[in-house]
Formats: sequence, C-alpha cells, structure tokens
Amino acid sequence: MKNIVVLVSGGGTNLQALIDAEKRGDIRNGKITCVISSKADAYALERAENAGIDGVVLERKAYPDSKAYSEAILAELDRLKADLVVLAGFMTILDECVTKAYPYKIINVHPALIPSFCGEGFYGLKVHKAALDYGVKISGATVHFVNEKADAGAIILQGAVDVLNDDTPETLQRRIMESVEWKLLPKAVSLFCEDKIKIENGVAKVYE
Ligand code: GAR
Repeated sequence: MKNIVVLVSGGGTNLQALIDAEKRGDIRNGKITCVISSKADAYALERAENAGIDGVVLERKAYPDSKAYSEAILAELDRLKADLVVLAGFMTILDECVTKAYPYKIINVHPALIPSFCGEGFYGLKVHKAALDYGVKISGATVHFVNEKADAGAIILQGAVDVLNDDTPETLQRRIMESVEWKLLPKAVSLFCEDKIKIENGVAKVYE
C-alpha cells in the first residue's frame, strides 16, 4: 500500500476528489495519510479533517525564500515516508531539493493543456484568463510528474473541454475541474500506486 501525501493551498476540490475516490475504492493500492497546506486558512484543511486525515500547516510566508520553504517541505515528506506526493492546487513552486529527492514521485494537476498556458506565473484563474485572452477553442487539464522546471515534467494524462463564446475564467475553470481534473487526478494517482506508469526515454507511458 503506497503512502500518499497531498500538498494544497486553497479550496481543495481536487483533494476532495481524491478523498472521494479513495472512499469508493478507486485508489487501488494507495492511502492518503497526510495533507500539507501552505496556508493556515485553506479550506482544504477542513476537508482533510472531515475525512479523518492528518493536516499539517507549513506556511510559505513563514520562510524567507523558496529554498528554505522547500527544505521544510522535504523534511516533512521524509518524516512521513511519502511514496507519492500529490500537488492538488499547491501554489508554490518547489525547489529542486524536493524534486531531486522524489524523482517521478511527485504528481501535479495543471489546469491547461501543457505545453500551453503553463510555467511560472500560470496558476489558478490566471491560466483560464490567458486561455480566453488568446482565444483558444479547446482547453483542459494535465496531470504530470514534477521536475526541476515548472509544469515541464512527463505528462501522465490529459483531458480537453470546449471553450464557449460566453466563458469567463470562472466558468471555464469550473468546467475543466468537473470534466477533467476531478476525474484524471484520482485516476493518475491510482495508476501510480498500481505501478502502471512507466518512464521510457523521459516520456510517461500508461499501461492499463
Ligand atoms: C485547480 O484548478 C488546479 O488545477 C490549479 O488550481 C486549482 C486548485 O483548486 N492548480 C494550479 O494552477 C497549479 N499551477 P482546488 O484547490 O479546488 O483543488
């Protein structure tokens, strides 16, 4: 059974999707044992508590820079003996001290079709605003491994939705969450826990 630690910063709807999937038995061979939040007032912490999962607050603003913060996260992941780290709406870019210690063991969900609308500065509603400003007709979400570069690790799963004429960043975000993120993140986590994702020449291949 793989030990899953989820990192959050906000509302935690993706965390909720993971909790619900685990309850349904859809996370095969994995268990969420701890939720770490970069914000003390994140609603995601309440979701963890309601599900009986330990919550830890490591506030980003309590550390002088990304490296010091990442070292604190790394110490906590090591203490928890994490087999898989899931970034579910975690709004801080982790320093390479974490990504190098957990190669192909950190998964992120990004609310766009990578390589579009991704990288530093693209998070949350900003991603959807950029997609609407560009005028793309399809957007979606990507579940990928995390490496030293923001949103550049091997892609595990992607799903697309249509962009509608009257979309706002909020309506597009909601459609992408409902249709893609809340389904594909639990699916990718289960595939990882079942050892069904293989890395071949830096590319992730799923063997279902
Ligand atoms: C989600 O749409 C997630 O993909 C995005 O923030 C939202 C968090 O919602 N993540 C990023 O932008 C990371 N670059 P949630 O807290 O309700 O899961």
